[in-house]
Amino acid sequence: MSWMQRLAASALLAAAFLAAAGCARQPEPAAPSEALTPEQLIESRCTQCHDRGRIDAASYDAAGWTAVIDRMVAKGARLTEEEKAALVEHLAAD
Ligand code: HEC
Repeated sequence: MSWMQRLAASALLAAAFLAAAGCARQPEPAAPSEALTPEQLIESRCTQCHDRGRIDAASYDAAGWTAVIDRMVAKGARLTEEEKAALVEHLAAD
């Protein structure tokens, strides 16, 4: 094998390796910190125990929604502090 052939062969190997690595890459799961919109939060965190009709029927100010959501969290709803704040703001707005 000439040095040219060796060079070509290792370049091919490197290309094949890179292609394989590219194909093996899994789609990235959504980062847990990725913020959901308030509507997505309602769909994903507030409809396990009752449908969203209850939420749409209720009308509170921010303090009222904070109290309701704290009660829901005590029952088992899963929300971070940031998500809770975003949801209160959204729900109190309409
Ligand atoms: C673990 C179950 C559970 C989850 C999750 C849950 N709820 Fe509830 N929710 C209840 C139960 C049980 C009631 C009825 C008893 C009560 O009002 O405390 C209720 C009642 C309500 C009511 C009507 C009562 C009122 O005071 O107006 C609203 C509004 C409400 N939920 C909003 C929400 C929101 C917003 C979320 C998401 C953050 C949520 N719920 C998630 C169990 C849950």
